[in-house]
Amino acid sequence: MIIKVSTKSLKVGMYISNPGMSEVSNPNVFLSEGEITTDLVLQKIASSNYSDTFIDTEKGVYFAKHKKKKQEIESLFSSTENLDNLDPSDAQTFDCILESIDFAENQYTQLIEDCKKLILAAKESGNIDTSPTYKLVDHLINNDNQTNYAMMFLSNLRGHDEHTYTHCINVALFSTMFGKYLSLGPENLIHLGFAGFYHDIGKLKISDKIIKGTKKQSAKDLLEFQKHPLYSYDMLSKQCTIPDDILRAVLEHHENYSGTGYPCKKQRNDISPQASLISIVDTFDSLKSERSYRMSVSPHKAISAIFQSKGAAFSPSLVDKFVKFIGIYPNGSIVVLKNNKKAIVMSQNIKSLLYPVVRIVLDENNRHCEPQDIDLYEAKDIDDKHHIIDVLDAKDCRLHISAYIKTKGKSLKL
Ligand SMILES: [Fe+2]
Ligand SMILES: [Fe+2]
Repeated sequence: MIIKVSTKSLKVGMYISNPGMSEVSNPNVFLSEGEITTDLVLQKIASSNYSDTFIDTEKGVYFAKHKKKKQEIESLFSSTENLDNLDPSDAQTFDCILESIDFAENQYTQLIEDCKKLILAAKESGNIDTSPTYKLVDHLINNDNQTNYAMMFLSNLRGHDEHTYTHCINVALFSTMFGKYLSLGPENLIHLGFAGFYHDIGKLKISDKIIKGTKKQSAKDLLEFQKHPLYSYDMLSKQCTIPDDILRAVLEHHENYSGTGYPCKKQRNDISPQASLISIVDTFDSLKSERSYRMSVSPHKAISAIFQSKGAAFSPSLVDKFVKFIGIYPNGSIVVLKNNKKAIVMSQNIKSLLYPVVRIVLDENNRHCEPQDIDLYEAKDIDDKHHIIDVLDAKDCRLHISAYIKTKGKSLKL
């Protein structure tokens, strides 16, 4: 496929093609055929008087690399059973994000505010105020699914930094929604939400220096950091009304399926099912957040990392279920299509998790364009220009998104 692009959006490894145009009649179009092999060549073209050029997406290492990446993603997730032809009830709830986005945005902000008050109160008094927490979790569970899925969408889209209260809300939200997906009963959901909310409360007992520490923590600091599940357990168990399964979930949220976690090196079925679930959700949210020692990653990279730790850190069957619940390209991910357009993943596709429904928001030259909605499953057999070739990390995604998700998109005619 040959597409016209601005010289500013060229990348090393792209192959410049001349579709039979004359250089004399097109002085602003760069027409010297060949692959861009170095940054120097790229800079020369970008700083020249040429405004546009043509690239051939079938040639050059840039697209070959992405094609390989696409194949790797497909083979990575191929061990998950029934990735295609999902039960419609698995995915239908993802479809109504647009309708709920305003309401969900306000709710999400309010929940983070409420969380801040509860955590600060716990910090000051050293005690957990259980009744407003149960109220918050109860509210989260009884919210309609549409609003909760829209909040999950917003959380994936934005990413967040480490030092916010967003992590507590996200872990409670994603845990309870995953629990609903697994058809857990109401009491189980409340306990999951409560444990998800307070799983890291013990970090209040650890100095900021250690919590915000760099990648190269000393062995002593690391040991202290790894005590936070114990501290969470101690703080919560002071309230004698908190049920045992909540305490266990909090205590065991860093235990690994293979027995290499902490604090007790428990393994497999010795780890409580709630802790196993929270551990996956916690990792998913932590990877999406920025740390002092690493940048945030896209929701797609986070789910890929979890998938690769199947059987090591996490229970294999639970990981498979989480992938089906959240998708391979989770809602809110920003993807790059083969025609160089950028799109937001709006909903999962019941026919295959590899081909979500997306909204194109930036054109091939990274200019804002009128939103266009496209079902990538329907598009895949027509041509390959709408294949996903890359996913942008959260740090690259801080586009002004609200303008794109609040307007009605035009359906793209294929
Ligand atoms: Fe933790
Ligand atoms: Fe956490």
